[in-house]
Amino acid sequence: MIKLQDITKVYGTGDAAFQALHGLSFSVADGEYAAIMGPSGCGKSTLLNILGLMDQPTGGEYLLAGHRVDDLSDTLRTGVRRDTLGFVFQSFNLLPRMTALANVCLPMGYAGVPNEERIARGKRLLAKVGLKDRGHHTPLQLSGGERQRIGIARALANEPKLLLADEPTGNLDSKTAVEIMELFKELNDEGMTVILVTHDRAVADRADHVIHIKDGLVLKEER
Ligand SMILES: Nc1ncnc2c1ncn2[C@@H]1O[C@H](COP(=O)(O)OP(=O)(O)O)[C@@H](O)[C@H]1O
Ligand SMILES: [Mg+2]
Repeated sequence: MIKLQDITKVYGTGDAAFQALHGLSFSVADGEYAAIMGPSGCGKSTLLNILGLMDQPTGGEYLLAGHRVDDLSDTLRTGVRRDTLGFVFQSFNLLPRMTALANVCLPMGYAGVPNEERIARGKRLLAKVGLKDRGHHTPLQLSGGERQRIGIARALANEPKLLLADEPTGNLDSKTAVEIMELFKELNDEGMTVILVTHDRAVADRADHVIHIKDGLVLKEER
């Protein structure tokens, strides 16, 4: 699904330049459940932003589903991101005034899903994450775990090939975190490729492939 070769990232220029990634190489196969693990500041979010086509590497090659994507134009990158990737965030990033169902359906508009299909698909996704009867609630009326379930349903809105999550359990208590990890596992069992970032060993242990990062480099991989 993804192959990274010698990925580097330098923020800023001149005296203010800071190198966050120092030449990372690893692969994640189709259907894998992978965790990128490492201490705070080691470059996990930088790496996930590159994987998610939200930022470009300074050097190296990134193959996504067999295609080079590190050197795409902004327009192409946006299209590939919308059609191929789903994102789950630590702080959920839901729109507080919109219902759960409206939050889930939002990305479908950008992808041109026909109006009449959006609601049906949104309801199906809410049922999939165990929130069948919560579609009319707003995020403030829901618990942290329920909010993250909505975040996951929204990430699935455009039927991505790859689900990316940056510290998806970072704002949850440990019991709820386990439930969210189980949900990722269920999605993975249905064939979804999942890559999540965590600094938490207990979270990483639930993945099939752990990529340990330190100081912007791959320290080791466990499968
Ligand atoms: N936009 C930026 N400009 C300059 N430095 C940055 C920027 N974003 C992150 N960094 C630096 O890059 C390093 C890695 O950050 P990050 O990828 O957020 O780490 P992690 O997610 O593992 O905590 C840190 O030293 C951080 O300060
Ligand atoms: Mg981070």
